[in-house]
Amino acid sequence: MCGIIGYVGEKKNALKVLITGLKALEYRGYDSSGIAYFKNQKIEVAKEKGKIEKLEKILNLSTSSNIGIAHTRWATCGIPDKINAHPHSSGKITIVHNGIIENYEQLKKELEKEGYHFISQTDSETIAVLLDKYYKESQDILKSIIKTKKRLTGSYALAILCEDIPSKIFAIRKDNPLIIAKSNDASFIASDIPAILNYTNQYYILDENEIAILSKDKIDFKNDTLETINKKVLTFNGDKNSSTKGDFSHYMLKEIFEEKDVIKRIVKDYNDIDQLIQNLSFLKKYKKFDIVACGSAYHIGVIAKYLIEEHISIPVNVEVASEYRYKNNFLDNESLAIFISQSGETADTLACVRKVKEKNIDTLGIINVEESSIAREVDYAIYTKAGPEIAVATTKAFLAQLIIIVLITLYLGYEKKYFTKEFLNERLNELSNMDSDIDTILNSSYEKMAKIIAKHQNVFFLGRNIDYGIALEASLKLKEISYIHSEAYPAGELKHGTISLIEKNTPVISILTKNSTFDKTINNIKEVKTRGAYSIIISTKKIADTEEIILIPEKNELLLPILAIIPLQLLAYHVASIRGCDIDKPRNLAKSVTVE
Ligand code: AGP
Repeated sequence: MCGIIGYVGEKKNALKVLITGLKALEYRGYDSSGIAYFKNQKIEVAKEKGKIEKLEKILNLSTSSNIGIAHTRWATCGIPDKINAHPHSSGKITIVHNGIIENYEQLKKELEKEGYHFISQTDSETIAVLLDKYYKESQDILKSIIKTKKRLTGSYALAILCEDIPSKIFAIRKDNPLIIAKSNDASFIASDIPAILNYTNQYYILDENEIAILSKDKIDFKNDTLETINKKVLTFNGDKNSSTKGDFSHYMLKEIFEEKDVIKRIVKDYNDIDQLIQNLSFLKKYKKFDIVACGSAYHIGVIAKYLIEEHISIPVNVEVASEYRYKNNFLDNESLAIFISQSGETADTLACVRKVKEKNIDTLGIINVEESSIAREVDYAIYTKAGPEIAVATTKAFLAQLIIIVLITLYLGYEKKYFTKEFLNERLNELSNMDSDIDTILNSSYEKMAKIIAKHQNVFFLGRNIDYGIALEASLKLKEISYIHSEAYPAGELKHGTISLIEKNTPVISILTKNSTFDKTINNIKEVKTRGAYSIIISTKKIADTEEIILIPEKNELLLPILAIIPLQLLAYHVASIRGCDIDKPRNLAKSVTVE
């Protein structure tokens, strides 16, 4: 996905505002960027391949302009280069786009037949040309936008400039986030809140059948029949500093160190049985769960399956959204479909929400970004309250999702008489008092292991039961920020073929928080060690003749995954740091994948 920002205000510092805002959105995509702004009633455009600082270098930020739009790209259609970078222009129209236009080739052919020429390989340029065509015919930008919307299939968040209207920005969206904001002397468009927090915390969510018209002193909203509509203004109450690194070298490290606070923030709303019941009692009527998510959020689903099936004896089906959306599911009125998503904007997950709702199945979203697309479409939403997560690789949001899953397990276990009130209170008390345990983990050193792992190109993570879910996430973390290939395996499964890849010193990291499978996993570790592996173990207890062990503090088994994932996040971080990788903005990735 990409980052969009637009500004129109009293002050004539548009370029500074746009570049600063773009940098706050860079985690959404960063292979190229561009800006369009009005100067002397004309639209000026500048674009560059690479990160935003390259665009900044070719601009004179003190240029006097009070209106403009800008874009940072995660390429989906057309290679990452200057020509394919946004903005895209045609005639009087200039646009920046986030999303995918699925019917762009057919539209492009139609427009080329009418004599229009294209210079980029992108789908986005088709939108600019279509708008230009309709504007030439009608000389009415709003009618042109409505007509264009009707022709587009796919997803878009769009900011539009029209050279005949140098005082306004127009915006529309479908299946992609776009917020509209107003400060006392300016109006803003942005893909996400962090881009505008320096100016205001008041914002609107643009709905899919609306057009926003921004001027420096007001924002008008129109519906598809061009009637003016009033919208509710929302207030962002999150931490403004979340979009700065502070003293940390990377957002990812800062966000790992925020995890203690995240746990406390969540548990504050669930710190006694009455609050658990009050917040989660809607769950008790369901007899089976489908959990659908992508990436790290999917790994939470894997962990949830183990927890809920073991402690509550409710069947849990967990699938990646990109598969789930194209296959049969066996849901009925006793089912709850649970969608886990940090951003609340992941296209595949959002598509599954809509697929399931067509069957009138109840839906729950476990989401970090309030008012996100998924949050607005599910029947129930549980917010993970991790705060804005800037690093592309999730850490604190993952941990927050894990806490929610543990709380759901505790609640259902109590509700269905598997857990006593005492057990529940003990766990809630443990959850509220994890600071010193987490400090122990945060203050440990991972350098030595990281230096060894950093030299390898293949790493394996092993775990049984819930530890396999943790292994999946640890493996993804290492892959996505250090570019080392790694695989997570059920510990007992490695010997069925993949063990052939174990060579002398191959790093194998085993997670052992589950008592019932502890000895079996030790056997699997011996199998890889006899074949020369460099074994690292995550456990609460020392194990004889183990080269490397990451000790985590003793806790009830239900809570150990919370402690086990933190050293694995830190290990991945240090390996990536040693390898000189771009930890917060890894190559090829984007924070929220709003395309399919
Ligand atoms: C997380 O480190 C990954 N970058 C990615 O797998 C992410 O978890 C996935 O894209 C799902 O995102 P979501 O939680 O916002 O839906």
